[in-house]
Amino acid sequence: MAINLVFVDASGERRAVAAPEGRSLMEAASLSGVPGIDADCGGACACATCQVYVDAAWLPRIPPMGDSEANMLEFAANRQENSRLACQIKLTPELDGLTVTTPEFQF
Ligand code: FES
Repeated sequence: MAINLVFVDASGERRAVAAPEGRSLMEAASLSGVPGIDADCGGACACATCQVYVDAAWLPRIPPMGDSEANMLEFAANRQENSRLACQIKLTPELDGLTVTTPEFQF
């Protein structure tokens, strides 16, 4: 099943993409050429350059973050309450329609 996603960039431009179930949110962005997610470590939860801001309506619907994600987010610039690492969010049918915003900078 393809999972529909919306990536909004820091300027407000929206990009609707679809990605296969089982991929990560980071991989979905990468596969579709969505800018704004660097993912320097390739999804190993070791860089924090795949940070996204999860739309408020979706926050309760995505699985809670694990310790490694929480620790790595400590290093993320521009962290917000709704920050998550896109490589740690696995796409499931429940996330069809998920909307996230990419930060202005990743570093
Ligand atoms: Fe490096 Fe997500 S890609 S932490």
